[in-house]
Amino acid sequence: MSLIKEIDFGTPIRVSEKQVTLTIDGEAVSVPAGTSVMAAAMSLGTKIPKLCATDSLEPFGSCRLCLVEIEGRRGTPASCTTPAEDGMVVRTQTRNLAKLRKGVMELYISDHPLDCLTCSANGDCELQDMAGAVGLREVRYGYEGENHFHDKKDTSNPYFTYDPTKCIVCNRCVRACEEVQGTFALTITGRGFDSRVSPGGTDFLGSECVSCGACVQACPTATLIENTVIEHGQPEHSKVTTCAYCGVGCSFKAEMQGDRVVRMVPYKDGKANEGHSCVKGRFAWGYATHKDRITKPMIREKISDPWREVSWDEAIGHAASEFKRIQGRYGRESVGAITSSRCTNEEVFLVQKLVRAAFRNNNVDTCARVCHSPTGYGLKTTLGTSAGTQDFKSVAKSDVILVIGANPTDGHPVFASRMKKRLREGARLIVADPRRIDLVKSPHIRADYHLQLMPGTNVALINAIAHVVVTEGLIKEDYVRERCDLVDFEVWARFIADERNSPEASEQFTGVPAADVRAAARLFATGGNGAIYYGLGVTEHSQGSTMVMGMANLAMATGNIGREGVGVNPLRGQNNVQGACDMGSFPHELSGYRHVEDDATRQIFEMMWGQALDTEPGLRIPNMLDEAVGGTFKGLYVQGEDIAQSDPNTQHVTAGLSAMECVVVQDLFLNETAKYAHVFLPGASFLEKDGTFTNAERRINRVRQVMAPLAGKAEWQVTSELSRALGYPMSYSHPSEIMDEIARLTPTFTGVSYDKLEKLGSLQWPCNDKAPTGTVLMHVDRFVRGKGKFMITEFVPTEERTGPRFPLILTTGRILSQYNVGAQTRRTANSTWHAEDVLEIHPFDAENRGIKTGDLVALASRSGDISLKAEVSERMQPGVVYTTFHHADTGANVITTDYSDWATNCPEYKVTAVEVRRTNYYSQWQEQNREESVLLRLIAGHMPEAAE
Ligand code: SF4
Ligand code: SF4
Ligand code: SF4
Ligand code: FES
Repeated sequence: MSLIKEIDFGTPIRVSEKQVTLTIDGEAVSVPAGTSVMAAAMSLGTKIPKLCATDSLEPFGSCRLCLVEIEGRRGTPASCTTPAEDGMVVRTQTRNLAKLRKGVMELYISDHPLDCLTCSANGDCELQDMAGAVGLREVRYGYEGENHFHDKKDTSNPYFTYDPTKCIVCNRCVRACEEVQGTFALTITGRGFDSRVSPGGTDFLGSECVSCGACVQACPTATLIENTVIEHGQPEHSKVTTCAYCGVGCSFKAEMQGDRVVRMVPYKDGKANEGHSCVKGRFAWGYATHKDRITKPMIREKISDPWREVSWDEAIGHAASEFKRIQGRYGRESVGAITSSRCTNEEVFLVQKLVRAAFRNNNVDTCARVCHSPTGYGLKTTLGTSAGTQDFKSVAKSDVILVIGANPTDGHPVFASRMKKRLREGARLIVADPRRIDLVKSPHIRADYHLQLMPGTNVALINAIAHVVVTEGLIKEDYVRERCDLVDFEVWARFIADERNSPEASEQFTGVPAADVRAAARLFATGGNGAIYYGLGVTEHSQGSTMVMGMANLAMATGNIGREGVGVNPLRGQNNVQGACDMGSFPHELSGYRHVEDDATRQIFEMMWGQALDTEPGLRIPNMLDEAVGGTFKGLYVQGEDIAQSDPNTQHVTAGLSAMECVVVQDLFLNETAKYAHVFLPGASFLEKDGTFTNAERRINRVRQVMAPLAGKAEWQVTSELSRALGYPMSYSHPSEIMDEIARLTPTFTGVSYDKLEKLGSLQWPCNDKAPTGTVLMHVDRFVRGKGKFMITEFVPTEERTGPRFPLILTTGRILSQYNVGAQTRRTANSTWHAEDVLEIHPFDAENRGIKTGDLVALASRSGDISLKAEVSERMQPGVVYTTFHHADTGANVITTDYSDWATNCPEYKVTAVEVRRTNYYSQWQEQNREESVLLRLIAGHMPEAAE
């Protein structure tokens, strides 16, 4: 294996219908108009020396190393800033140029510490390469003059170091932070010799920097360099794989020494990220080898017993015999499983297969139940497919972007960077969110409208926007007539035009001034390509599915589905939410969203699997827990999911788990759910296995094994063995065989194979005979369901009401540096930025309660109470408080309620009536939970220690 090196064309690849033809060093080349001479030369394989240019950034023209001669032009223009033109005759290698370049390099090197042999970037330094390329052997100026050799290093960031002694002030880092990341954290201070890179006059940690790593990636020297490279040295080999965090699905090169990861470098050919990353994927991978990893299977009779390490055979055999015993005693329906959006498609597919074929029921559900299940329901009903309509790139063609209930800069940072780029180019922005998220106002971006609605009133807001569109004659009539069901449309138009849906009538619920809603609606309907991006702030409500349909209605009414720049786009939380749903994880659906009651579909599976399948939908997660409390559901296999932390109303979840006779947890760590487990099966991180993840664009990306599984087996192997022990043999020698089976059974996947993924890099489903290389945009000429279906979306206020006892509304979300329940990120230096969950509260509410930032406050709801620190913040509106749920010992879900989406049971995490008051104590639940956690770790032989 070798290190994958991508070609750097020096300047961005241009796309143009017009080609220009020029001659470079005697060779003719045709390139799209707008291409630089440097990139044109590179397309011939001619590398012109360069320092300040790289193809992820617009040309800057500062280093003067890339000089060329062009016939008929005076002087020696910089090839990076000179566009190629028809008929141009360019020379890149002449005696004169060689002399000039050598002179430039001499100046750089005279202020550069000559410690190449001991430098961490030795072998991966463009300055070193260029010195070689121009043939520099000696420096005439000497090193005694003025220099920067004694400048101080900035080691404040836990992941990378800034060593100004090596800086050549090429500006690449500053431009990367601006152009690629869109954070504008860096500047060049001083002039001439005194020019220095500065993170806003402070150190990196104290600055606006969000640790995306773009500047480190762009730096041609060792000035900005990963600490892991300083510590371990240069990597030796690499493989391309996919980030295991969010639904953006960024591709990375895992750069290795032996089986140790040295760094994760965002992959330029990765279609989702095109060479960009965020702090999680780029740096927060150390959890994979954290000392808390459990690498030996364990069993125990009762959950109060200590764990006993056993062999894989014994653990799997014990789990199987327990499931068989339970089914024998309590019936076939008494057991089930939960799949995880953090596992690969292949692993998820096998778990649901195990449930259907080995348990012989349909009691399988997935964590998408608690996040994007309303997306599946709402988009399938209106458009015909349970998935987003666009690829991420599409946002570059949007004119008006409507972000609803999503916080992309924290939750989906790499997509947010794309979106911010488009906004800086002039696209208009409407944000609908109860909280003032960063996107509302950030460098060079200001939302045209921030519709700061009360949590729980999304449907009232979307109806009010649609009301304006309908009553002010802004419907795209041709589009609707041609593409949508007109009977449904007429019924919907009458409903939505009713006065009760007007912005004025809705204001009492939403709190958003009617004039703002009217103006935003006009902008969306008339501003060109209108794209909707949304997140869990839409789905995690009692009307989550209604809201998804409301957005689809709006998109159809304004003609905004079926081409680039438009669409209804769910920003998926976890890396494989889309895939987990696609793979048949829901109790009523087989892979490809086909109902288990459909005889023809079921028969295909029965034939392939050689097993009769249950014809009735199985239990959803909340039903499993209810039935466990009721005494009829007794056994659960949970793969890669921590329902005791992530699901709502923790006390109800733990009551359900405690009532079961066999809980099998398969995970990297002893998580909260493992406190209630009888069998623990060690999991494998994304670095330890092969497979695929499907991101929010429906893009299937390869996950590639770069190190052996620490526990000896990947999950797909364990699931196969468990199935065999249950009496239903599965035999696969590689996940590619599982994908082959998925393809045989799933019409939208029939064209997917590992071979094709190897050739094309990634594939967006549907990928089949009709679309052999996949489908970038959905619903282009017609909707998947035929005619687009408008649905009635009556606003029904949630039953969770505020009152004198609980006067505030709590809404929850996530933060950039942490991820979901924090199992991974809490075991990395990402906790530097977010060591605990805090409660954001508006100054008005804080003052009324005598609360200051840093005070411990008790947060109580009808479900329970916890204590956490307060942060007084004007991001909030009066009456609404906010927290994250990344830390198990905070227990944010002790507070949340059992209310859920009417169609899918997705919990209403985003609306909980609460009261907040100052306190000196942690809650009883927290104290007890802490004791249990310490005990659990001691039992497992893991002493409690601070996260690394
Ligand atoms: S830190 Fe690196 S990228 Fe930034 S100006 Fe210095 S050498 Fe160039
Ligand atoms: S890490 Fe990212 S945000 Fe921070 S300075 Fe570099 S480019 Fe900017
Ligand atoms: S967490 Fe999401 S945005 Fe960040 S690197 Fe991973 S996939 Fe990309
Ligand atoms: S690479 Fe062209 S001026 Fe620096």
